Amino acid sequence: MPLSSRHLLGMQGVPKEDIKLILDTATTFREVLERPIKKVPTLQGKTVVNLFYENSTRTRTSFELAEKRLSADSINFAVSSSSVAKGETLKDTIQNIEAMKVDMIVVRHSATGVPNFLTQISKCNVINAGDGIHEHPTQALLDMYSIRERLGKIEGLKVCIVGDIAHSRVAMSNIFGLKTMGADVSVCGPASMIPKFIEDLGVKVIYNIDEAIQENDVLNVLRIQLERKAGANFPSIREYRQYFGIDQAKLDKAGKSDIVILHPGPINRGVEISSEVADGLNQIILKQVTNGVAVRMAVLYLLGTQN
Ligand code: CP
Repeated sequence: MPLSSRHLLGMQGVPKEDIKLILDTATTFREVLERPIKKVPTLQGKTVVNLFYENSTRTRTSFELAEKRLSADSINFAVSSSSVAKGETLKDTIQNIEAMKVDMIVVRHSATGVPNFLTQISKCNVINAGDGIHEHPTQALLDMYSIRERLGKIEGLKVCIVGDIAHSRVAMSNIFGLKTMGADVSVCGPASMIPKFIEDLGVKVIYNIDEAIQENDVLNVLRIQLERKAGANFPSIREYRQYFGIDQAKLDKAGKSDIVILHPGPINRGVEISSEVADGLNQIILKQVTNGVAVRMAVLYLLGTQN
C-alpha cells in the first residue's frame, strides 16, 4: 500500500495506516544499518536536495545518510554560500533547483508553512525537516519508532512532553502522531510555555513535574529554545532547572526506575536535563538518532517510489 500523500508536511491528519507503514518499513531499513555494507539500490536514479535554511546537526546529517544508504543522488544546498545571499527569492531558488531535474526536496526553514508553499510551486515530493514552530514530522516518527522499539507498543502508553511546548515543532508533531497511534498524551512545563489551545488537541496539562514523572511511561524532554526567546518565559535558567529540569533526584523521588526518557536534541545539559540522566540508563537519546536514519530512509523510499 502506498502512502496517502505525495508529501510529508506534518503529522496532523496523517492516517494511522501511513504511520504504521512508515514505522514497519523503517524496521526493515534499521536492519540494513547493521550490515557491513549499509546500502541498498532502492532510490538509484533519484535526486534529493537538502535545503536547510536553518541550522541542524541531526536532521540534516540523518537525511543525507538516509539518501546515500538508499543510493539516491544527494545535494546539500548551503544557504550561506548560495545566491540567496544575493537576494534571490525562495520561489526562484526552488524553480532553478527543480529545473535541474531534482525529484525530492527536504526543507528546513524558520518560517511556518514553507514546505506547504513548496508543494504549490514545485512538482517534487516535499519533506518537512522542521518549519518554524509548526511541525517536525520525521522527529515525531523517529520518536514513535524508538518508543515502540523500547516498549513494544505505542497504543495505551502514557507519554508526557516536557518543557517549552509553545515554541516546539517537535511537541506539535509528537502530539498529532502519538494521539493518532492511541497514546495518552500530556504536556508539562511552566504555564507561560503551554499554549492555550493545547487542551483542544485532547492533551492533558500537568504543571507539576513530580506528578508528570509519576503518571507517565515516557517523558519526551524538550530543549529550552533560547534562540526563540524562550528564556523570557521564566525568571532564570536556575529556576527552570529546579522546577522542570529532569534529574536523577526527581526520577528517584517518583520511584520510576523504568521510565523511558527521550530528547530530540540538541541537549542543553544542566538546563532541561541533567548529564546524569542524559547519559543514564533510562534515556534512549542516541538510539533515537540511529533510528532517525532508518525512519528517514522509510519516508524517502515510500514517497520516492510511489509515482
Ligand atoms: N532534533 C533536531 O531537529 O536536531 P537538529 O536541529 O540538530 O537537526
